Amino acid sequence: MATVAVIGTGNMGRGLAKVLSEAGHTVVLGSRDAGRAAAAAREVGPGVVGRENAAAVRDADICFLAVPFAQENATLQGLRAHLAGKIVVDISNPLNASYDGLVTEPTTSAAELVAEMLPASRVVGAFKNTLAAVFALPVFEGAQSTVFVVGDDEEAKQYLLGIIRTLPFAGLDAGALSVARTLENMSVLLIQLVQKHDYHWRAGFRVLA
Ligand SMILES: NC(=O)c1ccc[n+]([C@@H]2O[C@H](COP(=O)([O-])OP(=O)(O)OC[C@H]3O[C@@H](n4cnc5c(N)ncnc54)[C@H](OP(=O)(O)O)[C@@H]3O)[C@@H](O)[C@H]2O)c1
Repeated sequence: MATVAVIGTGNMGRGLAKVLSEAGHTVVLGSRDAGRAAAAAREVGPGVVGRENAAAVRDADICFLAVPFAQENATLQGLRAHLAGKIVVDISNPLNASYDGLVTEPTTSAAELVAEMLPASRVVGAFKNTLAAVFALPVFEGAQSTVFVVGDDEEAKQYLLGIIRTLPFAGLDAGALSVARTLENMSVLLIQLVQKHDYHWRAGFRVLA
């Protein structure tokens, strides 16, 4: 069982904290505001602790960054030293304002930009195609959705895949960190499918093999 920090008390942060704590991991939910962290942790459930961001990441083995893409750089100011040598999971999708495209250039991805922001950390990308509503009811008629895990640090990727095996999701090694470019575009497709087919924000991908 890991000690996990989840930075951001929004929909994804609370969803990740919920499934991780239910699987038995020690979860510290981080916020810019200690009071908001404590309130969100209480809401997620017993066993989850809320702390201001820097305190949340201090003792963590692995840190999920669950803040908007545009806020990742600002969020990481002041956390870099605490995150050195640690696995950092970027879950962000750099969506444009109308959710029908990305704001990043095709030659990069949010995950790669986070890796540039954190040169001393071990950055992996995951949960980019897991909609927040899915955490409340993760299994679809007996089937777990696929969580694509990408990264250039094989050991970090395997560590995260090990954690995902304890969760109600099917983790899958999808390759190098640059594959995040594809995953982030897949999120655009997923959102378009949700809107077109009225899936009420509860939809995901599953690889059949
Ligand atoms: N929503 C989805 O279905 C979904 C699916 C896949 C991936 N993602 C990605 O997951 C990340 C989080 O999404 P979300 O839906 O959880 O977003 P959200 O509900 O808006 O929450 C984002 C959190 O980030 C923190 N934050 C830090 N700096 C901020 C700032 N300047 N302005 C606003 N919030 C700030 C806030 O926590 P504190 O106030 O506690 O600091 C806030 O609660 C995004 O990168 C998104 O692309 C989302």
